[in-house]
Amino acid sequence: MNDRARSQRIYQRSLAVILENQQPGGAYLACPTMPDYQFSWFRDGAYIAYALALDAQAGDIFHAGSMAAQIESAREFHDWCARVINDRAEAVERSIERAARGEPPVLADTLNARYRANGHAGPDDWPEFQLDGVGTWLWSLAEYADRAHMPPLPLAWERAITLAARYLAAMWQVPCYDCWEERGGDIHVSTLGAIYAGLVASSRLVPSLNWDDTTAAIRRFVLAQGLTPGGELAKSVGLDMVDANLIGVAVPHRLLEPDDPVMRRTVARIERELHAPGSGIHRHLEDVYYGGGAWVLLALWLAWYYLEVGERQRADDLIAWAESRADADGNLPEQVPDPMLASAWHYDDWVRRRGPIAQPLVWSHAQYIIARRKGGGAQPGR
Ligand code: BGC
Repeated sequence: MNDRARSQRIYQRSLAVILENQQPGGAYLACPTMPDYQFSWFRDGAYIAYALALDAQAGDIFHAGSMAAQIESAREFHDWCARVINDRAEAVERSIERAARGEPPVLADTLNARYRANGHAGPDDWPEFQLDGVGTWLWSLAEYADRAHMPPLPLAWERAITLAARYLAAMWQVPCYDCWEERGGDIHVSTLGAIYAGLVASSRLVPSLNWDDTTAAIRRFVLAQGLTPGGELAKSVGLDMVDANLIGVAVPHRLLEPDDPVMRRTVARIERELHAPGSGIHRHLEDVYYGGGAWVLLALWLAWYYLEVGERQRADDLIAWAESRADADGNLPEQVPDPMLASAWHYDDWVRRRGPIAQPLVWSHAQYIIARRKGGGAQPGR
C-alpha cells in the first residue's frame, strides 16, 4: 500500500472508530478495549466532537440521513455533556457558592473528569477533579455551533453552558488535577488555557454572559505567575518545567497566539526536551505512565500547532510518524514505548496493572482527523 492509500485508510478508520464507539445516549468511550478507559471524558470527547465538526465542514456526508453523521454524532455528545452537567446543577451551585466564600471545594460537589456512558460517576479512586475538560467542552461546543449553524440553542444547552461557565469562573484559581490526571495540588497553565477558552466560548454561545474581567485576570495571572525563569510557559505555577500539553494554551485555546514569543519559546523547549528526533512527543520529563513513552496524540497536536504557524514540513513529519504507529487496520495507540523516558520496569508495571497500552485511543484518532483537516499530510478525500 502506498503512503497516500495508507493515510486514507487511517483517516477512514479514524472516523469509523469514533462513530462505532459512540454509546447510545451520546458518550464516547476513551478506548473501547481498555477497562479503565471505558468512560466518557469531557476532554477527550471535546476533541472528538471537534474533529467531526471539522470533517463535516469539509462537506463530505459520511452516510445518508437527514444530517451528516458527523454533525449528528457531535450533537449527541454535546447533549450527553449538557445532561451530565444539568443533572448535577445543585452540587455545582454549592461549589460555586463555596468558591465565592473562599472555601475549598468539596469533592462530591465538583464535576468529574469522566462519567459512565449512562451519566453515572465511575469508581471513586480516580483523580476526577479536573477543570480543563469542562473548559475544552465549552470551546468545542462553540466550534460545533458555528459549523452546524445552530442558534437558537436548545434550552438545556444554554442552562449547561451557563452553569459550566459560572463554575469555571468561580473555580479557576483552585488547584486541580491536570489533563494527564496528575499533580492535584497545583495550578496548571494548560488548565488555565482551557478555562480561558471555555469562558470566551460561553459568551459567544450565550451573549448575556460576559467574562471579560475574568478572562483578563486569567491571562494576567498566566503571564505573571505561569512562566519559567527562561520565559517559557510553565507546566504548573512555580515549576521550571514544560509539558507538551502547553501547546493547547495557543492551539486551540488562544490565551496566547501561536506565534507569540512566549509560545515560540515554549514550543522550542518542548522540542528540545520532549521530542526525540524522528519520534513522537513525550508528555513531560517526569512521566512514568507506561514508561513515559512517545504520545501519538501529542505528535498530532504539535503538528496542528505547526500548521497554524505555517510550518508545514514539521507538521508533515509528525503526521508521518503518527501514521507509522498505526496497526494494519489503521488503529492508533495512545503512546508507544519507543523511546521511553522512564525505565522499562515502569512500562511492565503499568502493563501488569492495566493491560496493554490503549489502542485504539479515540482521542488519537480525533487528533489525526484534526491535523489532516487543518491541511497536514495527504489531503483527505473519500
Ligand atoms: C490521560 C488523559 C485522558 C485519559 C483518557 C489518561 O491516561 O492522561 O489525558 O483523558 O487517559 O484518554
